[in-house]
Amino acid sequence: MTGRRVTPSAAPALGAFTAGQLLRLCDIAGLSSGDAAAYADVLLEALGPVAARPLNEPPPALSFLSDDHTPVEFSLSFTAGAAPVLRVLLEPGCGAGRPALSGRAGLDAVQAMGRRWGFSTGRLDELADLFLPPDAEGPLALWCALELLPGGVPKVKVYLNPAASGPEHAAATVREALHRLGHREAFAALPQSGRHLFFALDLGDWEVPRVKVYLAHQGLTARQAAGLSRMAPAPDRAEIQEFFRTATGCADGVPVRLDRRPGQSCHVLTDSTTGTPDGFTLYIPVRDYAPHDGEALERATALLNRYGMDPEPLVRALPAVTGRRLEDGVGLIAYLALAHQRGKAPRVTVYISSEAYAVRRPTGVPPQRNALVH
Ligand code: TRP
Repeated sequence: MTGRRVTPSAAPALGAFTAGQLLRLCDIAGLSSGDAAAYADVLLEALGPVAARPLNEPPPALSFLSDDHTPVEFSLSFTAGAAPVLRVLLEPGCGAGRPALSGRAGLDAVQAMGRRWGFSTGRLDELADLFLPPDAEGPLALWCALELLPGGVPKVKVYLNPAASGPEHAAATVREALHRLGHREAFAALPQSGRHLFFALDLGDWEVPRVKVYLAHQGLTARQAAGLSRMAPAPDRAEIQEFFRTATGCADGVPVRLDRRPGQSCHVLTDSTTGTPDGFTLYIPVRDYAPHDGEALERATALLNRYGMDPEPLVRALPAVTGRRLEDGVGLIAYLALAHQRGKAPRVTVYISSEAYAVRRPTGVPPQRNALVH
């Protein structure tokens, strides 16, 4: 007698899908298979129960982390003459419920990482009342990014929401958090334009742990972008404008204003005595200013070449994440960023979406769920 076989759900789970992407990207970033396997486990553990959720169910929450609400996003950070560094951004509390609960789950996940890798979460715990209040609101509570370095121990970064107690308190929250961390002069040194979007902390084994303040700039132009840095020495304005123009595709044409999705700036603080930031990053949401990912990749490639960085790992990374043609969607490349840090070579970072749930159709074509893609 043949018993009825229970056929497993045909759809992969969120965790298996994103861990598969991560394993393939680790290989491209030159990590050993042992490190890759360890990092895939870290990803699954950090995602928690939602890792087991089949992809034919809707996303666990309307995460702001990515356009299709996958709570995972990858990035490759390039410097000239070195292999790119693979990073993964994730929302550990995704699916835990309202922001306060998701923040609590996120904090638990980061504390578990601290115990595992032997780092203190003291700086984060010190800020919990500001960013993780019991009545927290907003599009995120806590995100975590891991830099996947050789050796199996990632560098950890935590992202918090300055508007957790309401957008009207965001600036004051950032000022207070900087103050508590000893950056007493820093708030006044930052641009007064823009909306406070994230407050980030490095945790763990960093040479110089950073505090980062992120601002969103609606309607940003190339000229304005070039005026946003507060770091010393200032990066070259013409260079920032050129990056903006190439990333937005207006290199020889009409100037672009980022009026669909805002550009972002990040201001890096390490030295609490001067108050002057010593890093500046500009983020261009290329996906809202390109017709499809083929074009976004061309722009990324042009930028990498200009900085003497080899685009080949990026060209290989995209098919490691998706089986679709680049021309058939937009948003696989989410952002292009140019980072300057005092005393270091510039970095170009390309943010790569997981698209676990949906692909945004190229400009002019209606959106469609991924249901049949897997
Ligand atoms: N999805 C959000 C956005 O597009 C937040 C975000 C995810 C983000 N990854 C990012 C912002 C990389 C800047 C850079 O704004």
